[in-house]
Amino acid sequence: MNRKVTVIGSGNVGATAARSIADKELADVVILDILDGVPQGKGLDILEACPVEGSDARVLGTNDYVDTADSDIVVITAGLARKPGMSRDDLLAKNHAIIKGVTEQVMKHSPNCIIIPVTNPLDAMAQVVYRVSELPRERVIGMAGVLDSARMRAFIAQELNVSVENIHAFVLGGHGDAMVPLPRYSTVAGIPITELIDAERIDSIVQRTAHGGAEIVKLLGTGSAYYAPGSAVVEMVESVLKDKKKILPCSVFLQGEYGIHDLFVGVPCKLGANGLDEIMEITLTDEETVALNKSAEAVRELVQLIDV
Ligand SMILES: NC(=O)c1ccc[n+]([C@@H]2O[C@H](COP(=O)([O-])OP(=O)(O)OC[C@H]3O[C@@H](n4cnc5c(N)ncnc54)[C@H](O)[C@@H]3O)[C@@H](O)[C@H]2O)c1
Repeated sequence: MNRKVTVIGSGNVGATAARSIADKELADVVILDILDGVPQGKGLDILEACPVEGSDARVLGTNDYVDTADSDIVVITAGLARKPGMSRDDLLAKNHAIIKGVTEQVMKHSPNCIIIPVTNPLDAMAQVVYRVSELPRERVIGMAGVLDSARMRAFIAQELNVSVENIHAFVLGGHGDAMVPLPRYSTVAGIPITELIDAERIDSIVQRTAHGGAEIVKLLGTGSAYYAPGSAVVEMVESVLKDKKKILPCSVFLQGEYGIHDLFVGVPCKLGANGLDEIMEITLTDEETVALNKSAEAVRELVQLIDV
């Protein structure tokens, strides 16, 4: 295999994503953490699952960035996760320092990689990666919208008792409490959900989507979601490695699109071999525009606090 994906952080999200990338034989996988033995142990465990999965991916766990050299994609999950009662924004200062250091190391060894930041608060951390790496904006693509949309799809499928495969859902904006699920652009077999579900039920799906992360944090008691986040990372990795040009909601550096300047915010993106191929600009109603701007302002406040 000649493709290489590095996952920084061998915690819940990192290990889940690494395992799935190896299972699907998308690339060789390096998993790195500051903890001694943990990435090595999890890497070996994933490698030993590969014969059962029928995958010839090579998997290595390490503490040394030298092993990450020449990665095509680097997924950054390093950092703290939420505890009950914490918002994603509470993680800002600590994760800022971690992400800055990680990005510097990543760039020393894989100067041409595509980086998928995952660490929260996602949009602000993506902006840190972008500023520190000095990569073109096409090569820094934050993961959040795929997860938020997957949650909304799951809730719509439950509501209508139809296959998740029939459902597309769109969630725009920052990955925070002000995210903007868009019912008008969410469809079942091409039919907008606004024609299939009454307004009150849609509102409850929208609310549950916006607070989907907190629902799981509360249930788990310790740590935050990782199966769906891991799957969401892998959908993005696959679209890049296979140059699939999937349209996926991702957090990217906007330069005037949707009227937003110099800020990472979630919008529909086409992902291919070069990373971000294109930002799709869809028409929003006044109400949707106000909600998107409010969500973007919440991201801007965080970005200003850490001055990136
Ligand atoms: N964007 C999203 O949609 C989304 C979804 C889920 C989780 N997250 C975020 O992803 C991050 C990881 O979540 P998790 O559940 O895997 O947490 P976790 O605590 O299970 O794992 C984090 C790992 O990062 C490692 N780490 C810390 N500092 C490091 C450094 N400097 N270099 C390398 N590794 C380092 C830790 O040792 C730990 O193993 C959190 O910030 C979480 O909030 C984001």
